[in-house]
Amino acid sequence: MELSKNTILITGGTSGFGFEFASKLIALGNTVIITGRNARKLEETKQILPGVHIIQSDVSKIYDISSLYDQVIEEFPDLNILINNAGEMRKIFLNEDHDLSDITREIEINLMGPIRMVQEFLPYLKRKPNAAIMNVTSGIALMAFPIAPVYGASKSGLRSYTQSLRVQLKNTNVKVFELVAPGSTTPLNDKFKNDEGFNEKMLMAPDKLIDEAIKGMKNDSYEIYPGLAKVMRIMSRLAPKLLLSQTTKMYEKVVSSI
Ligand SMILES: NC(=O)c1ccc[n+]([C@@H]2O[C@H](COP(=O)([O-])OP(=O)(O)OC[C@H]3O[C@@H](n4cnc5c(N)ncnc54)[C@H](OP(=O)(O)O)[C@@H]3O)[C@@H](O)[C@H]2O)c1
Repeated sequence: MELSKNTILITGGTSGFGFEFASKLIALGNTVIITGRNARKLEETKQILPGVHIIQSDVSKIYDISSLYDQVIEEFPDLNILINNAGEMRKIFLNEDHDLSDITREIEINLMGPIRMVQEFLPYLKRKPNAAIMNVTSGIALMAFPIAPVYGASKSGLRSYTQSLRVQLKNTNVKVFELVAPGSTTPLNDKFKNDEGFNEKMLMAPDKLIDEAIKGMKNDSYEIYPGLAKVMRIMSRLAPKLLLSQTTKMYEKVVSSI
């Protein structure tokens, strides 16, 4: 698809992939709006990227999604691309006690957030001749990930939903993309840095990863697998038990070092 002169809404644009998407898409001549929960981080991002438009909005809150819709449509009526990027990942040990309202947080942000965003914005996007939805999943969507089990479930769920969405929108003008991102050096991974077995060398630089994502969108490549995600894809088909044993070892190393 053409990736200039669009109006693009990116959830979670104050760091990591969302920030890289914003800066590269602005450089390509698009109007870009980013969201985030933290007003200070939004203002700081605006200082670094003066061309970006910022709106404080929490994708896990229904009210925030509907007021975001009203504001975006009012101020940016040319909106034609939605990038569902906002996400969170926590280590969770399921045999400890957890507050029932907190245990599902990644599902609310990473899965329910994009589903609700799509439902809210889709009727509007369908009216545009050149529209797209990009959902950011993860290589972890292809396997179980015991150290972050709710995150893993959220990303597998989002991958499944994205494939169904693509089928259902087949005869519309809305293209549905999935970025199956491998591990990357963004703040999302900071909490894993001191873990036994954590290898930063395995992580892809976010700017290179988003270059591949943008190239994939330009080529109408609906499932984009940058870097190691290509290997994860093959392994998930040919050796799923080996993948599970690797992620199990990762979990066991962390548990044994506590
Ligand atoms: N980094 C990786 O290794 C990796 C690999 C595969 C997939 N991914 C996925 O890529 C996406 C981006 O991750 P990242 O690595 O760039 O993470 P990041 O650097 O931590 O950035 C996350 C962004 O999302 C925002 N955000 C978090 N919760 C939000 C909410 N409820 N509502 C609105 N905004 C929210 C954050 O801002 P606030 O905190 O201010 O809200 C921030 O701008 C996520 O979906 C993640 O799961 C990451």
